[in-house]
Amino acid sequence: PATTSYVFNITVAQRAPDCFAKGVLVVNGEMNPPVEVVQGNTLEVVVYNNIPEDWPLMSEGITIHWHGFDMKGVQWYDGVGYLTQCPIPSGANFTYRFQVMEEPGTYFWHGHAGMEKVDSLFGPLIVLPPPGAPAIAQYDDERTLLLTDNYHGEATLLAAALNRPFDPDKITNTSGSFNWVGVPQSILLNGHGFYGDCALLDGGNFLVDPKCNVTRQWVPPGRSSVLPYNAPSNPGCSRYNMTVEAGKTYRIRMINAGSLVFYTVCFAGHNVTIVAADSFPVTPLSVSCVDINLGQRYDVLLEANQPAGNYWINVLATNTTRMGAPGGYGVLRYAGANETLPADPIMQPDSVPMWGLETFEAITLPEAFLNASTIPQGTVLPVNETTLVPPNRTHILHVTFSTVLLPSGQIRWAMNNVATYGTPSCTPTLAQLQADPGFLAREALQSKQGNSTNVDMVQSGDAERVTMYLDDGSPTPSYPVAGQEYMQLKLGDVVEVVLQNNAAWLNEDADYSDGGLGCNRTLREEHPFHMHGHHFWVLGHGIGVYNETANRTSLNVVNPPYRDSFTIFKNGWSVIRFKADNPGVWMMHCHVDWHMFMGQKMYFSVEPETAPQPPSDLPQCPSDCLYNFGPFTPD
Ligand code: C2O
Repeated sequence: PATTSYVFNITVAQRAPDCFAKGVLVVNGEMNPPVEVVQGNTLEVVVYNNIPEDWPLMSEGITIHWHGFDMKGVQWYDGVGYLTQCPIPSGANFTYRFQVMEEPGTYFWHGHAGMEKVDSLFGPLIVLPPPGAPAIAQYDDERTLLLTDNYHGEATLLAAALNRPFDPDKITNTSGSFNWVGVPQSILLNGHGFYGDCALLDGGNFLVDPKCNVTRQWVPPGRSSVLPYNAPSNPGCSRYNMTVEAGKTYRIRMINAGSLVFYTVCFAGHNVTIVAADSFPVTPLSVSCVDINLGQRYDVLLEANQPAGNYWINVLATNTTRMGAPGGYGVLRYAGANETLPADPIMQPDSVPMWGLETFEAITLPEAFLNASTIPQGTVLPVNETTLVPPNRTHILHVTFSTVLLPSGQIRWAMNNVATYGTPSCTPTLAQLQADPGFLAREALQSKQGNSTNVDMVQSGDAERVTMYLDDGSPTPSYPVAGQEYMQLKLGDVVEVVLQNNAAWLNEDADYSDGGLGCNRTLREEHPFHMHGHHFWVLGHGIGVYNETANRTSLNVVNPPYRDSFTIFKNGWSVIRFKADNPGVWMMHCHVDWHMFMGQKMYFSVEPETAPQPPSDLPQCPSDCLYNFGPFTPD
């Protein structure tokens, strides 16, 4: 196959994407450059980590992950720090080289060792169909819309807040007790945005809402939200303009590469038609706005069929993460239109349809309406079975989310009471398990005996624990633990996962009398989940506690969407099903970077001993990596 080559020289640069200058990670001097490859070609990306070792806590190095790629047979290049490879240390380089067999469509690449993704280390990743292959739809041209959150602090420093021990004197239903990083300061469209009004950059942009005791974004008097800054003379930042020609149809590749906010994207005056979700085709669905959660991609068609002019592109936080989160605004500009902007965004956040997420009761999100229009070639899943039959090793896995208080005094997100947090070894887990499938269980014991941190390590993959998460009524651990939660699967296993989103820490007595729109709603959070190595069928979503008798029949086992990133609604559940057909060790995690940092992740180990041997040039882990609890040790 032909080779498509890129060189990534990764350095730190000062940039002011929203008028506020800060350090970001750039590739060859550029923020978020795209990677494009034709299906079937070999992709080669030579990554040089030229980030100074003393740049805020980046000393552990970086990796690059190809989000949405199944990486079948090329699992060593999945780019998950300490799982498939050690991070590339400062001053070193590593070459990702693999044949791209993925579905043509829209993906993104991002750092995946520590918090480097939040510091801008990501960009679009486009797989083009091979020559002669049919396009997914008819369109004249295409545009990429890369969306992200922008924090004014460096991510590793922000994450330090998440490591503070819990303070029992602050047992209130506020984010204060949750050691939250807060909402981003701006939303960027293709790297462009505005931090409120740039004229106010010197402070005074925030106030404390006395009712909620939560910092909210400053709102100008008489406005319902912060409006885009409109001063062409401002040198530090500019608005993103998407230019189109009247009469043409555009494929817009929307990517949510952010770290917190679930966006609602509306093109004023235009409907769009969703044709693909996470790169796989869906039955076309026409919508006025698209809800796109972290890690998700939607390919939509936009017809430039309105009078030539300027139309706002509104990128707003859905209500789930809306509290205090700013909006992002771009302009859809028809060629030849004069450059006078509409006075205000046509859709104010408070008037944007939120697809029923305003209440806990209704889910009418487009996500729930999507059907796969084609079953991808080579994918054999029992989607027509309403009952899963055990003989072919079908697992029903129940994963319950909550936050836990570790003995160290820290709050962590946990799945089945296990917060997957920390790095067990100086060798990537995939290599350890390939050589020795019992590895993690023994490490856990040693850690328990010799561990100087007061974190109780446990491995859910211990023989006595592995069944704990199956649907056999076994109890989950009754005490919260930090460790490596993983589940061992056999090649060919069919796995159904029921993900139950329970209340977060201190949430039991939260007051929902306001329909969840008040101060308490952040404590019950939605989670955008992503899985590596496999796509899965999203069989259904619901509110409340999943009930096998009541909810089984509502699952779509005929033509569910086939995705790699999906939403688990707050106080709700989602059911996915996949076939473990890819040997290796694969992560499933929340794509809120802060939640993943806090432990909301787990691994599926699929006969890693049958995977190819590791490439000989994988980076070495730092010598102090044993029982490394991330860039910070518990304090
Ligand atoms: Cu986009 Cu595990 O990540």
